[in-house]
Amino acid sequence: MGKTAKKIGILTAGGDCPGLNAAIRGVGKTAIIKYGMDVYGFSSGYLGLINNEYRRLDEKSLSGILTLGGTILGTSREKPFKHKEYDAYVQNKPDRILKNCSSLGLDALICIGGNGTMKTAGKLQELGLNVIGIPKTIDNDVWGTDMTFGFDSAVNIATEAIDRMHTTANSHKRIMVVEVMGHHTGWLTLYSGVAGGGDVILLPELKWKPEILKKYLKKRVNQGKPYSIVVVAEGVKVPGVKKKKERVGAGGAVARLIQDLTGIETRETILGYIQRGGTPSPRDRVIATELGAYAAGLAAEGRYGQMAAYTGNDLCSVPLEEVAGKTKFVPEDHALIRHARTIDTCFGDGA
Ligand code: F6P
Repeated sequence: MGKTAKKIGILTAGGDCPGLNAAIRGVGKTAIIKYGMDVYGFSSGYLGLINNEYRRLDEKSLSGILTLGGTILGTSREKPFKHKEYDAYVQNKPDRILKNCSSLGLDALICIGGNGTMKTAGKLQELGLNVIGIPKTIDNDVWGTDMTFGFDSAVNIATEAIDRMHTTANSHKRIMVVEVMGHHTGWLTLYSGVAGGGDVILLPELKWKPEILKKYLKKRVNQGKPYSIVVVAEGVKVPGVKKKKERVGAGGAVARLIQDLTGIETRETILGYIQRGGTPSPRDRVIATELGAYAAGLAAEGRYGQMAAYTGNDLCSVPLEEVAGKTKFVPEDHALIRHARTIDTCFGDGA
């Protein structure tokens, strides 16, 4: 247990997502109103910390931001511990961070982000800073928490997009492949795929075979079902395809393969960044507010080196050193996969 924080800094790092402002507001308002702390916001993730770019956040500056997408602080994918030997500026990044925090007199730093952000937060804690993490990402892949905010909004956006595929697919009797974000995990694809009535759902966590896909899609045609919706996670591997080298995404590669295998006209749509944009869903606003308020409470209690998290419906904290470097993958026997199989959703794995 460390000393109670009186002055805290907040930053948002990594890819943006809906709910970041709700979390900043949750931390900031709780810190100011409940605990009487001084709150500073750093610009552009860890970059602002390195370059000492910050501003004071008062209660007024935290009003009216709950429903805003993006982050009022800005974000970046800056990783201060990724050293490049030839660059003295780059080498000194961690030192600069320590110096800047100390000259501002910060007692604690709240880092809002995904896996990469938590890893850096853990390293800063090891260097002696008092750090608290808050998990966010549309991917829902942060280890140690059941839920990250941003995920629910992205599920809603992706689901609406998949819903809209049905009518155009039906009109043209086509197969529509929809590529969904999620980095190396399939949470967003699984939830939006089931919610949007995807006939096939391909996840990076499940090994799928083209022959099984072909058989299933042909079966649908024989059953008089004139079209199919295939929801593919961006992280899915496609047999025989080197995605980076061939400059093709998972959706494009799967669409090409399906058309070749079945002869059915196939089109792909990449949902991309619209999944991260815009106003957070009510659920994400709630999760972000709760995690934010909880994190401010941890700072008030001097409980550092922790990430605010959810287990079940309860708020809790997990040591950053346990979170760092791990990814929360969809378990192969996840209940939603099992339930979807009962309505004949195909995961391409023949199970
Ligand atoms: O982590 C969120 C995410 O949107 C992933 O789903 C995606 O793979 C990645 O970020 C895209 O990153 P960038 O914003 O750097 O293009």
